[in-house]
Order: sequence, then C-alpha cells, then structure tokens
Amino acid sequence: MDEVTLAIIKPDAMRRNLIGKIIGRYEEEGFRIAAMKMKKLSREEAEGFYAEHRGKSFFDELTAFLSSTPVVLMALKGENAVKRNRDIMGATNPAQAADGTIRRTYAKSIGENTIHGSDSVVSAERELGYFFSKTEIYS
Ligand code: CMP
Repeated sequence: MDEVTLAIIKPDAMRRNLIGKIIGRYEEEGFRIAAMKMKKLSREEAEGFYAEHRGKSFFDELTAFLSSTPVVLMALKGENAVKRNRDIMGATNPAQAADGTIRRTYAKSIGENTIHGSDSVVSAERELGYFFSKTEIYS
C-alpha cells in the first residue's frame, strides 16, 4: 500500500542549487511528488517542527539553520515511502551514509545534511500536517 512521507530540501542544498538534482533523484526512484512548496520558515516554525529535539545541544544551531533560507517541502508518495526515503537519504551523519545516498553525495556535515525525511509513518503524518492541509496533498 502506498504511503506518503515528508522530505525537506534543506538550506545547504538550496544555497548550492541542488533542488533539481534532488527532486530528479526522487522521480528516478519512482516516487510521485504529491505536494510541493517553497517556504522560508520562521525560527518559531522551525522550533515547532523539531520540537522533539528541544533541549538538545544542537537545537539552536538546527533551528537557526533550517530557518536561514527558503526550503523545499515535498510530500513523496509511493510504496513503503517512509523507509525507502530514509534509505535513499542515507544516515544522518553524511560521513556514515552509504555510497550513492543523497547525504553521502551532497551533505557536508551532520548539522547541514541536505535533506530531511520523516522517520516513521506516525512522524510523517504529523510532519505533513505541519506544512500541508489534506487538500494540498494529491493522490
Ligand atoms: P534531521 O534528520 O533533519 O533531524 C534532526 C536533525 O538534527 C538531523 O537531521 C541533523 O541535521 C541534526 N543533528 C542530529 N544530531 C546532531 C548533532 N550531533 N549535531 C548537529 N546536528 C545534529
């Protein structure tokens, strides 16, 4: 059965003109782009999105980074989309990400790691709802 997951093209990728390459990668992998928008998040929106990380040492750096430029928000649809996106993104730390993954290919550091993807079906539902209304996600 198809799932929908959230992917965010992060500011380090936005600054390096990587939008097309990343979206192209998802299309090649067979995902459908079910929703997409570009948005400059406020610091408060970034903090709300990453609320589970509040209190961690990297929270300030993380939320300042995510709100530093516009980002591309995408709903990716496909079979097993949550896990498949995690596999295509690679490990959080690009130095540990497998060859050929988006993070291994493009990311420079754990803090500026190019792409975000929901880590479970439950997170995907919350994260998609944070940025998209139900009617904005096409089937
Ligand atoms: P992401 O998958 O978007 O979700 C949480 C983010 O926190 C993660 O990507 C990393 O970019 C960031 N992160 C996790 N651990 C660290 C860390 N030790 N130092 C800096 N950033 C981190």
